[in-house]
Amino acid sequence: MITIAPSLLSADFGKLSEELAEVADAGAEWLHFDVMDGHFVPNISMGIPVLKSVRKATDLFLDAHLMITEPIRYVRQFCEAGADLVNVHVEADSQERILQALKMIRQEGKRSGVTIKPATPWEAVVPFLDEIDLVLVMTVEPGFGGQHFMAEQLAKVRSLHGLISEQKREIRLEVDGGVDKDTAPLCIEAGADVLVAGSAVFGRKDRMEAVRLIRGESV
Ligand code: DX5
Ligand code: ZN
Repeated sequence: MITIAPSLLSADFGKLSEELAEVADAGAEWLHFDVMDGHFVPNISMGIPVLKSVRKATDLFLDAHLMITEPIRYVRQFCEAGADLVNVHVEADSQERILQALKMIRQEGKRSGVTIKPATPWEAVVPFLDEIDLVLVMTVEPGFGGQHFMAEQLAKVRSLHGLISEQKREIRLEVDGGVDKDTAPLCIEAGADVLVAGSAVFGRKDRMEAVRLIRGESV
């Protein structure tokens, strides 16, 4: 089962509740919520108060992608604000503190994930496998929506898919960056089962059509 996670980063924040209703009606199962601190990535997006409002406005599963340094400082607050899953970058702190952050997320009763940037090898997630429900492979440099899909990242998706199935782990495999109707089939073929899409959903007028196209359905 393929899950579509529209990324709110490309939405019109002036009419958030309408945007949320449209993607839910379009059949998206998750909502991807990008948090940027201007330090881990060269951009600033949204944070805890916005997540709280989004939580009140939608029943969609909220997938928080924390592009922040030392996420251990904030994971509890993102859980309390209503995230269903919290993703932290393996590059954002020491291995020990990332492990602690993942444990905290689970203690809050939420799902946990680790994310890897394009330059990070897939093996970097191995120390965290017992503490995660999802791995996110970035297919662009984190920081901005609307970038070009990095097809060479698919080899990492393939390796991780192999590892997860070989070890029979219940870990979802997510891709984020440049996913659209043309690149989505490549991600699925490589083994991804959660597809994040920002501009390919919110950049189009008809969100229903946009979600269906990414899923590979006819419109
Ligand atoms: C980039 C973010 C992505 C972004 C994807 O740093 O993590 O979630 O919104 O946007 P598109 O789908 O436009 O590449
Ligand atoms: Zn993201």
